[in-house]
Amino acid sequence: MYHRRHHLAMLAAAVLAGTAGTAAAQETVKIGVILPMTGQQASTGRQIDAAIKLWVARNGNKVAGKTVEILVKDDQSIPDQTRRLAQELVVQDKVVALAGFGITPSAMAVAPIATQSKTPMVVMAAATSAITGASPYVVRTSFTLPQAAVGMAEWANKNGIKKTVTLVADYGPGFDAEKFFADRVTLNGGQVLDKLRTPLRAPDFAPVLQKVRDAKPDALFVFLPSGQGAAFMKQFAERGLDKAGIRLIATGDVTDDDQLNAMGDVALGVVNAHHYSAAHPSALNKKFVADFEAANKFRPNFMAVGGYDGMRVIYKALEASKGAGGDALLAGMKGQIFESPRGQVLIDAQTRDVVHDMYIRKVEKKDGQLWNIEFDAIKAMKDPGKS
Ligand code: PHB
Repeated sequence: MYHRRHHLAMLAAAVLAGTAGTAAAQETVKIGVILPMTGQQASTGRQIDAAIKLWVARNGNKVAGKTVEILVKDDQSIPDQTRRLAQELVVQDKVVALAGFGITPSAMAVAPIATQSKTPMVVMAAATSAITGASPYVVRTSFTLPQAAVGMAEWANKNGIKKTVTLVADYGPGFDAEKFFADRVTLNGGQVLDKLRTPLRAPDFAPVLQKVRDAKPDALFVFLPSGQGAAFMKQFAERGLDKAGIRLIATGDVTDDDQLNAMGDVALGVVNAHHYSAAHPSALNKKFVADFEAANKFRPNFMAVGGYDGMRVIYKALEASKGAGGDALLAGMKGQIFESPRGQVLIDAQTRDVVHDMYIRKVEKKDGQLWNIEFDAIKAMKDPGKS
């Protein structure tokens, strides 16, 4: 502990010394983006990287008269790597903002660095409620699991689902999903028969699915991080749970647009809650999806939109701060309101967390492709995890 604190103090001193001499002459502003470009979470990195490129293609690389330089680093979603890369980006590259963060442990590892160096840190992917509390310099453009879990619970209660089992990934966002789903369904008179967890790395769904079968709930509620949905759906079908009359409900991470088309008919009819669907029927989103697909040959998912909106937040804040970093940049991020491909977005000035519509969707086939079709929404939803 002493060692870590000492190290952070040195880091802060190095940053302050570095910026003092160069601020006036600085014609380039650098943004440090840390993403899992390889490893288990690579689809998150691929999606967000593509979205950042689309933002720059559409908006240029000049802000407040300065040239924006974006440095993308691969942390393989290993938190020690994320921390090391963040330190390098702050101390050596003198970035004005850090961004990305594919999983919660990576975001948590960097929060103390953001605080000590007064570097705004835009969380584009990770979604555990507590991340915004880990540093006053965290701003989030992804979503929170309590938002999605409460949205799903409300729908389940209103639609005759009484007995449920929860299945979540065994780490931060999974704990949030499990707790906020269970608390809300029981508050509304529902029952949770069992709470199951699978490891973040190399999960095996067979043993937990057997337990679900034996418990015979009306519905199974699932949260798994982006990238695991297709493997889970395959197992769900292979074990015959769909045929056993157990309804699958989920956060939209499971029916992820990145993989949805590959899941096949087992996904049809799955009701889920999330903040973004590639099928969101706005003119702005249709253009976003068309441009994204033209550039990448794959469909944008919710990670891409978190990245795209994160770039919006950074660019607008740089305009407001005239290219300065630190507290001026942070101030420019707070309170932004804009139309995103997901719909209306607010960055709550108090919590620095994202406020947006939480949609209830159903997987349907249209023109031979699978889509999450929105049919209901909780409007302007704040994070239920904030007291
Ligand atoms: C997270 O680690 O916070 C996380 C990752 C992927 C998701 C959601 C949350 O889809």
